[in-house]
Amino acid sequence: MDTYLETERLTLRRFTSDDADLLIELDSDPAVMRYLTGGMPTPPDIVRERHLPNILSGYEKWGGDLGLFAAHEKDGGAFIGWFILRPEPQGPLDEVELGYRLRRAAWGKGYATEGSRALLAKAFTELGVRMVWAETMSVNRGSRNVMQKLEMSLADTIPTPSDMEMVEGSELGGVRYEITKEQWEQR
Ligand SMILES: CC(C)(COP(=O)(O)OP(=O)(O)OC[C@H]1O[C@@H](n2cnc3c(N)ncnc32)[C@H](O)[C@@H]1OP(=O)(O)O)[C@@H](O)C(=O)NCCC(=O)NCCS
Repeated sequence: MDTYLETERLTLRRFTSDDADLLIELDSDPAVMRYLTGGMPTPPDIVRERHLPNILSGYEKWGGDLGLFAAHEKDGGAFIGWFILRPEPQGPLDEVELGYRLRRAAWGKGYATEGSRALLAKAFTELGVRMVWAETMSVNRGSRNVMQKLEMSLADTIPTPSDMEMVEGSELGGVRYEITKEQWEQR
């Protein structure tokens, strides 16, 4: 396994070209996709032909340090979803987005918080990151709670992207949370 990071209960690793089925299964659960597409699954061909190749080319672009990472339980090895720590396509390398998408069976165990905490520590102590941001829909309580537990601050409200207007609660827009290296060190 091409390990990227370990926490108490999780191993994060780089995806490989064999992982399409894991991503397809994750995105096929309407509960997982509720605040992303309104519950619609991602078409398998899009995962195979677009998403997975993008993930793999990201490792080349950022030397394997940034991107999307598969998370597995250390106890038993089950795939629980993914985390993201990634700059904007043309953005500075020291400002990165944090994100997470976990299988329903893995919710409510503190995994999103545990994985994200470790990613913040790696970002600020090893990767030269200056600021980490995260965005979600205003109504995505679970995602916002994770950001708050990480002691990220509400920085802004954001408009709903046009391709998400059919998602429940989209009329309330989205939120952006941020934490700087300095804030992280002083937390
Ligand atoms: C959002 C998500 C990542 C949360 O993962 P998780 O591992 O269950 O989160 P944690 O267990 O670390 O929970 C962090 C806090 O949020 C709370 N929380 C989690 N899900 C919640 C929900 N749906 N509603 C309200 N609170 C929630 C937890 O209770 C916990 O707070 P506590 O410690 O005070 O009890 C997970 O539900 C998910 O992957 N959802 C689908 C994809 C998604 O929406 N991703 C985010 C897109 S921006």
